Amino acid sequence: KDFKDQMIIDAGQKHFGAIICKSCGMIYTAASPEDEAQHIQHHQRFLEGIKYVGWKKERVVAEFWDGKMVLVLPDDPKYAIKKAEDVRELVDNELGFKQIVLSCPSKIKTYFFVSNERKIVGCLIAEQIKQAFRVLSEPNVPQSPNQDVLQHHRAWRCSIKPEAAICGISRIWVFSLMRRRGIARRMVDVVRNTFMYGCYLSTDEIAFSDPTPDGKLFATKYCQT
Ligand code: ACO
Ligand code: ZN
Repeated sequence: KDFKDQMIIDAGQKHFGAIICKSCGMIYTAASPEDEAQHIQHHQRFLEGIKYVGWKKERVVAEFWDGKMVLVLPDDPKYAIKKAEDVRELVDNELGFKQIVLSCPSKIKTYFFVSNERKIVGCLIAEQIKQAFRVLSEPNVPQSPNQDVLQHHRAWRCSIKPEAAICGISRIWVFSLMRRRGIARRMVDVVRNTFMYGCYLSTDEIAFSDPTPDGKLFATKYCQT
């Protein structure tokens, strides 16, 4: 029945003949059995991963018209921690992070954005830090056919001078089909308000670690406004 739930992408050459699954967001070629098999595998794992049944003592830190935010702390019950780990794995997979060890698991705060359909459509992992290196803006690169290559280039220039920061955002992720609806922006707003009791952190006091191209575009925009 999932296969009826599809749209054909007509967004140009790159994805010619490709299909995007409306539930899991994966883009694949329906004509390729290999692709289809891969999709089925990803589909089930992904939907299971983002499914949010909730728990009695969940810590709701914000409520919105389209969902709510839940915070998971290191001392929470096993099932909550398990969910945080499962979602982190999904996110790391998508980001291409491989077995990154959290610097201090006992200090991390995991924020979920849970949709009204009870799916975890956003996740943010924040850690307490002491200093950060500011990402320097790119020199202006003219648009070129190599844009894709440039976009995937991860080695941003960083300043060599450490600056004091309090909250490091080591992961921020929004489900692909729910992007550009202000979910990431609202998640960071809530983190600034709840990370340290009684303070509203300024944008200088938060830092994004090793941002992806998407992450950098978001962070630049967020910190300007
Ligand atoms: N391109 C250009 N501008 C962007 C983009 C983008 N891809 N994403 C966000 N922005 C800017 C826009 O100005 C946007 O406002 P607008 O939509 O009114 O123009 C503003 O940031 C706010 O964007 P949100 O809607 O709040 O961001 P969203 O919910 O789409 O989430 C995120 C952004 C988390 C980066 C999402 O694209 C994502 O999950 N990407 C894949 C995972 C990833 O790369 N995460 C960052 C890893 S780096 C790290 O974790 C430290
Ligand atoms: Zn799917």
